[in-house]
Amino acid sequence: MENTDQTTVKFYSGIKIPVELHKVRIVQKLFLKPIDERLAAIEKGGFNTFQLNTKDIFLDMLTDSGTNAMSDNQVSAMLQADDAYAGSQSFYRLEEALQEVFGKKYLLPAHQGRAAENIVSQAFIKKGDIIPMNYHFTTTKAHMELNGGKILEIYSKEAVKIKSDFPFKGNIDIDKLKAVIKEYGKENIPFIRLEASTNLIGGQPFSIQNMRDVKKIADENGIMIVLDASLIGENAYFIKKREEEFKNTPIKDILLLMCNFADVVYFSSRKVSSTRGGGICTNNHDLYMKMRELVILYEGFLTYGGMSIREIEAMAVGLRETTDETVISQSPMFIEYAVNEMDKLGIPVITPSGALGAHIDCMGFLPHVPQSEYPAGALAAALFIISGIRGMERGTVSSVRDENGNDVLSDMELLRLAFPRRVFTLSQTMFVIDRVNWLFNNRDLVGGLKFVEEPAVLRFFNGRLAPTSDWTHKLVAKFKADFGDSL
Ligand code: F0G
Repeated sequence: MENTDQTTVKFYSGIKIPVELHKVRIVQKLFLKPIDERLAAIEKGGFNTFQLNTKDIFLDMLTDSGTNAMSDNQVSAMLQADDAYAGSQSFYRLEEALQEVFGKKYLLPAHQGRAAENIVSQAFIKKGDIIPMNYHFTTTKAHMELNGGKILEIYSKEAVKIKSDFPFKGNIDIDKLKAVIKEYGKENIPFIRLEASTNLIGGQPFSIQNMRDVKKIADENGIMIVLDASLIGENAYFIKKREEEFKNTPIKDILLLMCNFADVVYFSSRKVSSTRGGGICTNNHDLYMKMRELVILYEGFLTYGGMSIREIEAMAVGLRETTDETVISQSPMFIEYAVNEMDKLGIPVITPSGALGAHIDCMGFLPHVPQSEYPAGALAAALFIISGIRGMERGTVSSVRDENGNDVLSDMELLRLAFPRRVFTLSQTMFVIDRVNWLFNNRDLVGGLKFVEEPAVLRFFNGRLAPTSDWTHKLVAKFKADFGDSL
């Protein structure tokens, strides 16, 4: 059979490192500031990496959302934008691209992924409904609950294990799905949601076989499937690499197959097409009509949906590039390299490596910091101080308090180091591994954090914290002793 693998490059020496299959043509200067300035910056930002200014950051690994590198073809397409309120040719070009890549006829544009979630939730969820899914995403859950729905995560045991070699941690547990339908009744389940490269459990994919099994049950019960395709390219890449049946199937065909299982597909274009914006698509005219007016109400007219027309042109090109294995494999390959190297050094990371970023298990990293002192927040701050690398806390700081004012401790305390597509080089990746390793060897110096200003809603964005002791100064002193005048 034809070998369609476009990414494997073996070295004569046997060393296993990913090779960049692109070249850098436009660059942005970065600044790696001295450690005292980095400490001052995080103090000013209330020990919250969302509050940092990028002028103080060396490697921004907060997210891949809106930060993937664009291709030459995307940027040049922006110049042919046909600016029109209604009937823009750019929109019809996007529709064509979407039909080609996702196989869906009707497209509703939205200004970003959560806007699509708002519309899907308003159109299909009524009070008391249950929405089973592999795992929630923060904005998804918020919109579904706002519309009176309740989410149920029906993942398998493997999904939340830190160390595992299970290739498809994003799978839905089929027995649990059957039980949920039996318990709540199919009439109270508007749809089953599948999230490609499941974000909050470490960018973990599901398999085509799992989609087949979910689809069978959905059809038997007349329930729709809604697919969050924000990270579908990477999920398709993992299917090709990890699901034997598809090892020679082109990514383009895997993408079409995945979308074909879903009645409605929505996405954040800040991720999937390396642009901004978002959208919802379907082949079902009735479903389209249920959502259409909501787009006009919340987003804008049907041929721009709150996006700039330039973005729409770049999105069409970016969507087609999602079918190019050399484009969508870059981030997962760099993540795999970083995760495997850290794993070899004994650093607790989520395995197998997934999409989006490398995920460090902060309870394993800082066992002496109790969850009530936010180990993931503390590690994010410590890593920034000693390296200028900005990651994202995904733990109890990102959680909420219960009605009695007590913290709801999260299942996992993760530090996510995102690898936006084609942004960082291998030497920068090696710097990340080196500094995380130094921190791991000096982990006893890292202490906890406490809130000093805590907003009632989404506290992780705007909250301010402070160290529970003078640990940050001890950490800086050790860094200087070990690294001398190195940045
Ligand atoms: N769905 C998934 C799976 C996502 O990862 C995101 C965003 C959204 C929906 C919402 O899309 O940001 O365009 O409104 N994830 C970003 C992240 C924020 O950093 O992981 P959006």
